[in-house]
Amino acid sequence: MTTFKGVDHVGVGVADMDAAVDFYAQVGFADVLFDYSGDVPGPDRRARVVMVGNPGATPIGPGRIKLVQILDGDGPPPAPTGGGWGELGICEICLHVRGVEEVHRNLVTAGAQSLMEPLDAAVMPHGVSLDIAYVADPWRGKLELIEWTGLWKSLPGEPRAEGVNHVAFGVSNMDATRAFYERLGFTEMLFESTEFFGPMAAWYPGEPPDQHMLMLLSAQGAGIEPVVLDPPGPDCRGEWGHVGPFEFAIGVGNLEQACAQLRGEGIGLTSEPQSVNVGTGEWKYAYFADPDGLYVSVVEPRY
Ligand SMILES: [Fe+2]
Repeated sequence: MTTFKGVDHVGVGVADMDAAVDFYAQVGFADVLFDYSGDVPGPDRRARVVMVGNPGATPIGPGRIKLVQILDGDGPPPAPTGGGWGELGICEICLHVRGVEEVHRNLVTAGAQSLMEPLDAAVMPHGVSLDIAYVADPWRGKLELIEWTGLWKSLPGEPRAEGVNHVAFGVSNMDATRAFYERLGFTEMLFESTEFFGPMAAWYPGEPPDQHMLMLLSAQGAGIEPVVLDPPGPDCRGEWGHVGPFEFAIGVGNLEQACAQLRGEGIGLTSEPQSVNVGTGEWKYAYFADPDGLYVSVVEPRY
């Protein structure tokens, strides 16, 4: 029986890898686990792929980031346009941070654009308090900064970003998504909201839609935040490797065993299990079909 270990990493398409590595190092993701250029089987693209971790990662901010620069075709596909947040596709990376206000200010001072000024809130049904802010990365990808003050007591020390806390994505049917990801270990619900989150209003090109979102956590790894909008807005899934956050991967201890389990559950693989030699070790992964055709994979990180 495979243990699914929550979100291991979020994939972000970039147009300029060196600039992206610098930006994310400045955010704290300075640990380069591998830097690979070549064929990426499964999606069948040529790309430079750099997996970065944050040495300040914590159990509530454990996730890594995979930077992808497409090298073939016309180069990096552009970010899907016309959306605000929560349309079909991956819409944000959220980092757990110690000291939202300071980390937000430091990023803005360093040139990042503020998308939401720091504020505090609480989420239902458990009344868990949090501090939150948003910045855009240099390619306009949404980077949420959160400190779950009602859930986790941060270690003492200087303000800093930790690892990825969760990834948000738009889906078409919340019940189907929830049932699907429950089978992959996301059994705990941290919050559910059916109220529009007012500070996001400025992000939408027109009248903001209704929002239904919830956060699901696994015992390990980062969480997921599926969102349903009404009306749903444009399809923002885009091409694999498009600029901005475009995919996420669930960690497993043994790829072959995990794939056997997915198949046993009736979940189709969209690629055979792959093993890519990335110099520091093996990058082992397989893509599978989620209910909305998002780019999702299982990964056995051996690097
Ligand atoms: Fe979020």
